[in-house]
Amino acid sequence: MAELGVNIDHVATLRQARRTYEPDPVWAAVEAQLGGADGITVHLREDRRHIQDHDVERIKASCHVRLNLEMAATDEMVGIACRVKPHQAMLVPEGRQEVTTEGGLDVVGQLSRLKAIVARLHDAGLVTSAFIDPQPAQVEAAAAAGFDVCEIHTGAYARFFHEAGGAAGNGDVARQIAAITEAGRRITEAGMRFNAGHGLNYVNVGPIAAMAGLGELHIGHAIVSRAVFVGLREAVAQMKRLIV
Ligand code: PXP
Repeated sequence: MAELGVNIDHVATLRQARRTYEPDPVWAAVEAQLGGADGITVHLREDRRHIQDHDVERIKASCHVRLNLEMAATDEMVGIACRVKPHQAMLVPEGRQEVTTEGGLDVVGQLSRLKAIVARLHDAGLVTSAFIDPQPAQVEAAAAAGFDVCEIHTGAYARFFHEAGGAAGNGDVARQIAAITEAGRRITEAGMRFNAGHGLNYVNVGPIAAMAGLGELHIGHAIVSRAVFVGLREAVAQMKRLIV
């Protein structure tokens, strides 16, 4: 049974639209936990467009479930992670112009640098996760770098699923499912935890949630979007029912 990590960045996006103090991501973390979230994710971006440094500290202090800090592999972010000590540090590529994380981390292309960062995070007692595309070479490199977890980027799957009107038998959708399944197999075979996320919502989550060996799904935008209409606790509970 896969667990659910809820990304609450977009509660902070709403707050930052007015540069004020509400809605408070700490409240969102509490509501998500009451809805059944197994973990909370926040992405402290270098440009601080949504989550702020003090949010990470306050959520860490008040969160009763695992806190997953999504972050770029920079000295500044590694320093913050080592000081605040979330349960997990998830390394992602970051582009200033992107609307959201567009692709997976190129672990192959920066293996020695990432190996050193993973070692620093391990020394601080953190679980380390690499957000990667479903490619065997990236899984292999993540294992070589010492990551504990790989989160497979499901964004391409979600895009094809939407374009195909939800037809899981569509060629592009089926190819993405096959690639994610194979990446998951390689991840667990290498002794790492297999997580997945990005672009998942209430209609496309089924085939991913059903994958063998899946540890945890990370879902944000769809849950916060539904929360506008039904409340966050209920939106999380509805997603939980779909992935068990
Ligand atoms: N996983 C990672 C690594 C992400 O960057 C994001 C988006 O912040 C998510 C999961 C959640 O994606 P979404 O908001 O599309 O559910």
